[in-house]
Amino acid sequence: MIDLRSDTVTVPTAAMRAAMARARVGDDVYREDPTTRELEDRAAELLGTEAALFVPSGTMGNQIAIACHTRPGQEVIVEASSHIYNVEMATMARFSGVQPRAIPGDRGVFTAAQVADAIRPDLYYLAPTGLVCLENTHNAAGGRVWPLPSAREVLELAHSRGIPVHLDGARIFNAQMATGIPARELAKGFDSVMFCLSKGLGCPVGSLLCGSRDFIAEARRVRKAMGGGMRQTGILAAAGLYALTHHIDRLAEDHENARLLAEGLSEIPGLSVWPQETNIVVFEIEQGPSAQELCARLKVKGVLCSPAAAGTDPKRIRMVTHLGITREDVVRTVDLVARELRGTAT
Ligand SMILES: Cc1ncc(COP(=O)(O)O)c(C=O)c1O
Repeated sequence: MIDLRSDTVTVPTAAMRAAMARARVGDDVYREDPTTRELEDRAAELLGTEAALFVPSGTMGNQIAIACHTRPGQEVIVEASSHIYNVEMATMARFSGVQPRAIPGDRGVFTAAQVADAIRPDLYYLAPTGLVCLENTHNAAGGRVWPLPSAREVLELAHSRGIPVHLDGARIFNAQMATGIPARELAKGFDSVMFCLSKGLGCPVGSLLCGSRDFIAEARRVRKAMGGGMRQTGILAAAGLYALTHHIDRLAEDHENARLLAEGLSEIPGLSVWPQETNIVVFEIEQGPSAQELCARLKVKGVLCSPAAAGTDPKRIRMVTHLGITREDVVRTVDLVARELRGTAT
């Protein structure tokens, strides 16, 4: 199968498995796991923060950040198609007692002026704004990089109003690869940043939440409360250390494959392909079967992909490149999509 559903479907390489098998481990809840500590130090260094915390998933990393930055009864400004708002099961309400205030971005990116408008005035009958969240790269916007000048404007505006800003940087290294701007620069000024090991970096499990020493101390407490205190995590952290050493530069290959895919698809009549910047390709079927139907037909031919936006748009499909996808896979996928659509047209 050519599996383009997500970059989360990668499986550890033989070399990563070997690194995992060699890992020195201890009880990480006692902070006795040397490999996890090493990974946390490396993550903090890469993101330019004082400290970092290994967490089981990106969702937990984002939600710990929200719990740490806010108090119940506040609002959190999020982009309307962001992961935190749409695909984390209302967890900010469930665990932190806050409500999202969603503002629509232009392809996932909102402006400082929009944030200024969405911040609640200091009136006793309004929920105070407790946090602003950004996403880079933006998943539902087709892997779009949040432009740095725009992010900096939002940071400046929010901070001038005393509001912290969290970055969902699940794919921040894709943004680094696409722009040539180091992750630490992209992360600069944020009050916390989460990035995932288990996406394009190819690890089986894990994300890192990065921030100040005080923030991470509190995040460690919240992680335990959420049931995320884990024991011999060194086995997983070893995969993370391996990925941070060997799998960042190779993201260029995924981006090149995504570019080839986007180009190939855009030559197929009846398809409209979104601008492609990183490893995510989104396209719309202007003429032809529904997204669901095309995905089902491609599955029979050996290609897995999914309707985008959790199927809410019947015409939109998402394909994601990763270390399990070769150039040949891309060429074959374009060919199969072209054949399927030709079959529909005639
Ligand atoms: C932008 C973004 N943030 C957060 C997450 C959540 O990560 P996890 O699946 O590890 O909970 C994802 C997952 O796809 C994502 O795309």
